[in-house]
Amino acid sequence: MDNSNLKSENPIGIFDSGVGGLTVAYAIKKALPNEKIIYFGDLAHLPYGEKSPEAIKAYAKDIVNFLLSKKCKSIVIACNSASAVAARTVARQIKNKAILVTVIEPTAKYVANNYNKQEVGVIGTKATINSCIYPNTIRKINPTIKIKTKATPLLVPIIEEGFKNSIISKETLSVYLSSNELKNIQAIVLGCTHYPIIKAQIKEYYKNSIEVIDSAKLVATELRNLLSKKGLLNTLKNPKHEFFVSDYTTVFEKTARIFFRSPIKLKQIKL
Ligand code: DGL
Repeated sequence: MDNSNLKSENPIGIFDSGVGGLTVAYAIKKALPNEKIIYFGDLAHLPYGEKSPEAIKAYAKDIVNFLLSKKCKSIVIACNSASAVAARTVARQIKNKAILVTVIEPTAKYVANNYNKQEVGVIGTKATINSCIYPNTIRKINPTIKIKTKATPLLVPIIEEGFKNSIISKETLSVYLSSNELKNIQAIVLGCTHYPIIKAQIKEYYKNSIEVIDSAKLVATELRNLLSKKGLLNTLKNPKHEFFVSDYTTVFEKTARIFFRSPIKLKQIKL
């Protein structure tokens, strides 16, 4: 794809339904400290995981138009549910106006390259698990891997309500992770960008006996490689990140402040 129209000084657009994408935004901020980030949290439509593919595509389309209007050189779908059902539609919409990165591809590549002939679990929202995107993408690269999936829909509302690392998240995780569908796995993919927020409890459940794979760093590395290859890395000293939401919640504001370690001002907009 010819991206010669893109400018290195332009920002990186990142979106998710809520706080989950902040895990990816944080990894991007660390890997690319000289880039300006524009984050969009679609709190008005949360949770994406319970919505139809048509609804998620429509939300993604509006957000992508907004991020393109902000001249983003790259758009990162920091949401597995949207990456699973809307990536193709978004790619057609973006054409060569920005570099598209999803959370699925880098994670699938990592699993395919590291778990030959093994069994790997994937947990995610209903939208992600029902799409079969992980088994399909991983097995296309490495058909020797057996992928075991389980939808874990209660985790996003628990996290968005601020009950991370609580007895509620612990008990819910224990019910989900002990299910037959996830027996005998050698690694588990956090197939929802909200789940790294409770990664410590997931690791604790497995007593650190298996790898808990979190896509955030993998996505940040993929983005850095792509921008570098295309000569699009920025050199800003103190980038002023911007945070937009389609609805306001205190949990989002607090979580964004924790991740970005600065007094963040949310801008609420209607798309
Ligand atoms: N964080 C998102 C994901 O990775 C969406 C969660 C939701 O809104 O249901 O799937």
